[in-house]
Amino acid sequence: MNLKDLFIDFFVSKGHKQIPSAPLVPENDPSVLFNTAGMQPLIPYLMGEEHPYGKRLCDYQKCVRLTDLEEIGDKTHHTFFEMLGNWSLGDYFKKESITYSFEFLTQVLHIPIEKLAVTVYEGDEKIPRDEVSAATWKSLGIPEARIAYLGKKDNFWIPGDSGPCGGDTEIFYWRSEEKVPHDFDPNDERWVEIWNNVFMEYYQDKDGNVSELKQKNVDTGMGLERVVAVLEGVDDNYLTSVWKPLKDKLETISHKTYEGNENAFRVIMDHVRTSVFIAADPAHIRPSNTDQGYILRRLIRRAIRYARNLEIDTMSDFLEQLALVVIDEYQKYYIELSENKDFVLEVLKQEQNKFAKTLEKGLKVFEKIASKTNFIDGETAFHLYDTFGFPIELTKEEARERGLDVDYEGFKVKFLEHQEKSRTASKGKFKGGLSGNSEIETKYHTATHLLNAALKKVLGPSVHQLGSNITEERLRFDFPCDHKLTDEEKQKVEDLVNEWILEGLDVQKEVMSKEEALQSGAECMFIDKYPDEVTVYSIGNVSKELCGGPHVHNTKELGHFKIKKEESSSAGVRRIKGVLE
Ligand code: SER
Repeated sequence: MNLKDLFIDFFVSKGHKQIPSAPLVPENDPSVLFNTAGMQPLIPYLMGEEHPYGKRLCDYQKCVRLTDLEEIGDKTHHTFFEMLGNWSLGDYFKKESITYSFEFLTQVLHIPIEKLAVTVYEGDEKIPRDEVSAATWKSLGIPEARIAYLGKKDNFWIPGDSGPCGGDTEIFYWRSEEKVPHDFDPNDERWVEIWNNVFMEYYQDKDGNVSELKQKNVDTGMGLERVVAVLEGVDDNYLTSVWKPLKDKLETISHKTYEGNENAFRVIMDHVRTSVFIAADPAHIRPSNTDQGYILRRLIRRAIRYARNLEIDTMSDFLEQLALVVIDEYQKYYIELSENKDFVLEVLKQEQNKFAKTLEKGLKVFEKIASKTNFIDGETAFHLYDTFGFPIELTKEEARERGLDVDYEGFKVKFLEHQEKSRTASKGKFKGGLSGNSEIETKYHTATHLLNAALKKVLGPSVHQLGSNITEERLRFDFPCDHKLTDEEKQKVEDLVNEWILEGLDVQKEVMSKEEALQSGAECMFIDKYPDEVTVYSIGNVSKELCGGPHVHNTKELGHFKIKKEESSSAGVRRIKGVLE
């Protein structure tokens, strides 16, 4: 019997109602592109709203996680996966939840107890160590040596940076032929996590404030692909029964075996499956250059490119053949696959036609460039994107294979410049630099320059403005950076801006030629966007930027600056929202 059926049957027998998988593209949540966990569509109910199906729920949920597309190709990563989950909405709590999980694993899946270990939340200054979970595990026969107490980093779950959250207990399975060690070491990779039971008692807002939820909930999640691999005794997820029909089909189409071609096989299988599910979703996503459409485009194009590596004719109907296998395999569980079959096939075909033709041309151009240089500058990368439909990721991958570097930031600048141009063109107007004239907006303009300068000081000279947006309420600033800012970095940035405000630095406006401005070291975002004669604003000797203004006369007019939020804007780009108080 299929694991999904076993899981649902078990929890239904324990008084749970099965709820349907929510769409991949969230219906009322523009903050994420795709559903990334079973609990995501349930957030309102975890917060206290009454669920029409009651207090005990279970499901299998389609999820897409896009942490890093380039990681796909190894044994364990997938862009699409299914998550099995059961929930208590203010009904049972730790003891029952753990007991259900234990019973399902040992009595339904017949996993020997000797192969199980668990982690439990060790607590912090606000939340005590989770003795209830530990005691429950022990009463079920898990020895103390197989229980590890871990901190917030490992045993606390929150969807992103805010939402319903709480400590969790995670269940691990010994996936190795070797003898199970007496003590559980959660860092030993032979122990793989298979199930996560989150005990949601709190709500954390975007500023990090924690409050108690109206009700105590349980949210569990079990990754189907991984558990199937465990049960079937393989350490390569792509070698399980989940992938077998697709793997067989790809072997027939390519006349090659999986063994020896694992990387290409995994990329193609993963991307085709995900593309089918995205296209079949009720949102009717088509390939495009933004949001979900862009992800779909990248997936299809990457699959085609890897098909080429397997010497598959990229103009043949191979995508359709593979998509039909996916639809066939999954339609019993996801009716939208059969309902939207024609749409899915059409989407794949159209994108294939569009891409396959330009791919050959683009690769030839790429070859030519690659033979002359070991560095692809931003302009060239943008040209490949704009003219040949090469997503930047493809350029990066092709470059990596040949040991070339790509100026990703340069590409990004070109890309945003292009977007900006089409936006202003479509609005029929052109405004140099920042615009907006109210007193508070003027202050935010100046604060934006200070923030840019402070970020450079703290994070290094590669910081520059990739995007800026000002309202009466706040400033928003996007800049290249490869990591989430630490609390310390944020504090330093904030302190620097406030120091400069307190110093009362004069803001100077000068008009000069563009050449002169550049030579003077003034910073500028999109050089060819500006007229020959430009205005340059300097703030003390802290900042010098080409800008249309307007700005305050002295920084002391700004008041106090505070970073409200720091988040990812897109790959390699961070976004800060800040206010003046
Ligand atoms: N929300 C938790 C997870 O995604 C458990 O479902 O792991």
